Amino acid sequence: MSEKQFNRTLVTAALPYANGGVHIGHLAGVYVPSDIYSRYLRLKGKDVLFICGSDEHGVPVTIRARKEGCSVQEVVDRYHRLIKQSFEDFGISFDIYSRTTSDTHRRHASDFFRTLYEKGEFLEKETEQYYDEEAKTFLADRYITGECPHCHSAGAYGDQCEKCGKDLSPTELINPESKVSGSKPVLRKTKHWYLPLDKHQEWLQPWIESHPEWRSNVSGQCKSWFDMGLQPRAVSRDLDWGIPVPVEGAEGKVLYVWFDAPIGYISNTKELLPDTWEQWWKSEDTRLVHFIGKDNIVFHCIVFPAMLKAEGSYVLPDNVPSNEFLNLEDDKISTSRNWAVWLHEYLQDFPGKQDVLRYVLTANAPETKDNNFTWADFQARNNNELVAVYGNFVNRALQLTWKYYDGIVPPCGELTPTDLATVEEFKSIKAEVERLIEGFRFRDAQKEAMNLARIGNKFLADAEPWKVIKTDPERVKTILHIALQLVANLSIAFEPFLPFSSERLRGMISLSSADWGRLGSMDLLDAGTRLATPELLFEKIEDAAVEKQLNRLAEIKKQNEAENHRANPVRPDIEFADFEKLDIRVGTILSCERVPKMNKLLKFSIADGLDNRTIVSGIARHYEPESLVGKQVCFIANLPPRTFKNGLVSEGMILSALNADGSLSVITPDRSVLPGSEVC
Ligand code: MF3
Ligand code: ZN
Repeated sequence: MSEKQFNRTLVTAALPYANGGVHIGHLAGVYVPSDIYSRYLRLKGKDVLFICGSDEHGVPVTIRARKEGCSVQEVVDRYHRLIKQSFEDFGISFDIYSRTTSDTHRRHASDFFRTLYEKGEFLEKETEQYYDEEAKTFLADRYITGECPHCHSAGAYGDQCEKCGKDLSPTELINPESKVSGSKPVLRKTKHWYLPLDKHQEWLQPWIESHPEWRSNVSGQCKSWFDMGLQPRAVSRDLDWGIPVPVEGAEGKVLYVWFDAPIGYISNTKELLPDTWEQWWKSEDTRLVHFIGKDNIVFHCIVFPAMLKAEGSYVLPDNVPSNEFLNLEDDKISTSRNWAVWLHEYLQDFPGKQDVLRYVLTANAPETKDNNFTWADFQARNNNELVAVYGNFVNRALQLTWKYYDGIVPPCGELTPTDLATVEEFKSIKAEVERLIEGFRFRDAQKEAMNLARIGNKFLADAEPWKVIKTDPERVKTILHIALQLVANLSIAFEPFLPFSSERLRGMISLSSADWGRLGSMDLLDAGTRLATPELLFEKIEDAAVEKQLNRLAEIKKQNEAENHRANPVRPDIEFADFEKLDIRVGTILSCERVPKMNKLLKFSIADGLDNRTIVSGIARHYEPESLVGKQVCFIANLPPRTFKNGLVSEGMILSALNADGSLSVITPDRSVLPGSEVC
């Protein structure tokens, strides 16, 4: 945090596009960390607002509508509802979740543009852009495909080739084609408004340099933009979905989605607090923090600040904690390939287990580098950490209290040196958790919270109340008194991270509220307090649940492979006479066995209608020998015999089809034929 004195914190989380659900990549990158941060500040009694909403303009939603064959309005309505509900069910504690199609936003974004326009903050430029004469529309970059000028693969987009990854502009495409009508687009003149970022570089660069506390991935990306030199950026588009450009001579033009969306942070605040919103956006003692993913850095650190500065009355962000990407089972998460764990599906498959996902995503948060989510890790972290460490400690403390004291908190006697050391250790962790959360290091902060549970477990294991009860029952009262204070502390320490479990735990120990200020205190529970009936805080996740998820992913992978599969190019032509030389026949497998020490090979005895023959084939990894006996296969009958190292001789070659995954399938005739029949 910089030296400035702040009196309130405005937390924003990137507005998700309403073109699909929210997945674990979004959650780990943006929504879980911003929620932890906001909850933490609220717990500390700070003045905080947490703002989000759906991003409902732009090309992504229109592409989705075309794909689903419905109107854009239907698409954004459906996904806005789905996203809003799943965030709510997942405990993301936004103060408002609105949308960029709201009246407030349309008006505010429009006014914002007009203000800049009237102040002369835009450049007007005429350029040539692709136009679809059949569909009578200008084409967004994503709506034009063609051959990539770099790698020459077909189907590159107007903004990027997904095969070689190069950024493109539509006019670079070879043989461009409109995705709307399939026709060949033509270049047509069009006028747009540009934000002259080149002029803003002068103050943007020193401003970002004055924030050495920003994450290095963020400042690094900004620096490389500065090094290239900022260029004017168009803030309008020729599209029929969006907020109309509110100036004369702009028919058929709308605000660029990246111009209107961040203004959504402001309009949503305004919708929530119509009378006091300006205090949150326009007074110098507001600390503005944007949580985003790394693909949003340039917009939040350069474009939006330039817009705010050009307008003149708004505060600039104090920090922009941006995460790297989360992969899923070692593969890039992708909405279009459906390679994701969707929040709404997770909530259905794992009811009541919001905190497990929150825990795992924070433990694996891609804070400094890309990270990987696997279901095996999800299960292991639940079973070995939440259940075995946190849950186990709580459960032992509560069960023993019920067993010995009927669920009533026993009084505290004199503390031993070990007791005192434990208490001290607990107290010191509070400052550490605070420092880490305030530095946006949520993974480490959660780890520290989990350490408290480890300390608790160790305390009980060392104190052994179940043994001491036989010799010194008075001492056990003190042991459990301390253990229960530690449990109460855990419910506070975990509140920002695992709010559902914390609340349940507080119910079990009759602690009325989480008061962060009292974290570390050893009199959270008065002696004599009656506990409520204990339940398990976390449950084991069984293999079957994880397998179900892995099967689903395997199914998706197979589908994607089938959709993307293209056969190899055909080899050069041959003479017909050459083909006629090949003698391909059908044979019946009489026996089939593995070959000792040669684990790729199967040895076949084949009825060929003559003297029968032996064929050795490298398909042992793809078939059980027994399963092939009696089957008919095709083989090349007139190859010279081949001798293997171990002296085995193969008199032919069995034909198989090579699958995309490298597996082999033998070719069999579709009905039984006489052995030795020729294939022609
Ligand atoms: N919808 C964008 C995305 O998902 C994020 C918009 S953030 C905002 O990448 F600032 F523009 F709102
Ligand atoms: Zn390419």
